[in-house]
Amino acid sequence: MQVILKTPAEQAAMRVAGRLAADCLDMIGEHIQPGMTTGDIDTLCHRYHVEVQDAIPAPLNYRGFPKSVCTSVNHVVCHGIPGEKRLKAGDIVNIDVTVIKDGFHGDSSRMYFVGTPNVQARRLAETCHEALWRGIELVRPGLHLGDLGHAIQTYVEAQGFSVVREYCGHGIGRIFHEDLQILHYGTPGEGLALEAGMIFTIEPMINAGRRHVKLLPDGWTVVTKDHSLSAQWEHMVLVTDAGVEVLTLGREDRMRRGLEVNP
Ligand code: MF3
Ligand code: CO
Ligand code: CO
Repeated sequence: MQVILKTPAEQAAMRVAGRLAADCLDMIGEHIQPGMTTGDIDTLCHRYHVEVQDAIPAPLNYRGFPKSVCTSVNHVVCHGIPGEKRLKAGDIVNIDVTVIKDGFHGDSSRMYFVGTPNVQARRLAETCHEALWRGIELVRPGLHLGDLGHAIQTYVEAQGFSVVREYCGHGIGRIFHEDLQILHYGTPGEGLALEAGMIFTIEPMINAGRRHVKLLPDGWTVVTKDHSLSAQWEHMVLVTDAGVEVLTLGREDRMRRGLEVNP
């Protein structure tokens, strides 16, 4: 496995790409409402990337993916293909955007509520967000990836939810999915030790029911086998000498947390 350490110039380019992904997720949050289709979400994000950001939507034609973003509604775990599906009040939807700017990828996803979700749906989305941040806050040089996965897994399972095993976070840079794999479960002390200059995503997928998933015949859409609700949040992080810099903070996160989590 080749883990790529980013130079300061590459880190700067990834900061720009990460910011564009976050800006698009901020933008689309203003538009989510009952009655719109997942295809409408794709159109708005595609235009924003191309016309406003002068960037390329990385998913489009990536290994044959037909659209510019992934939209994963309710029991869809990830990689939902935007189309005619209409959002209704009470739905939860993950929107996953990846831009390419000056050759570098920015990848992030969030959960959005359509109208008012029920208590379980809200708790699932919030637990997933908290699990992501519990992982982020551990990141520093020397951390073993097993500790990161273990922290996410134990928190999620203590809430009565399950962690999807088949998909993981990944190294990212000029290449969308670099070799480095970030599992969202694990054993303390095991796995690769982090080094300053690594950039990767953390993107836990958690289910209200059992962890098992199924791939639909379209070859992309991943759903929970038991049809329970699923949630995902994704940030792109840089390992720094001081700890971690989150490259995909949205407007609200930037106001709440500031850029350095472990100063
Ligand atoms: N953005 C997804 C990730 O977090 C990957 C989507 S690949 C696609 O890794 F082809 F489905 F777009
Ligand atoms: Co993504
Ligand atoms: Co990703």
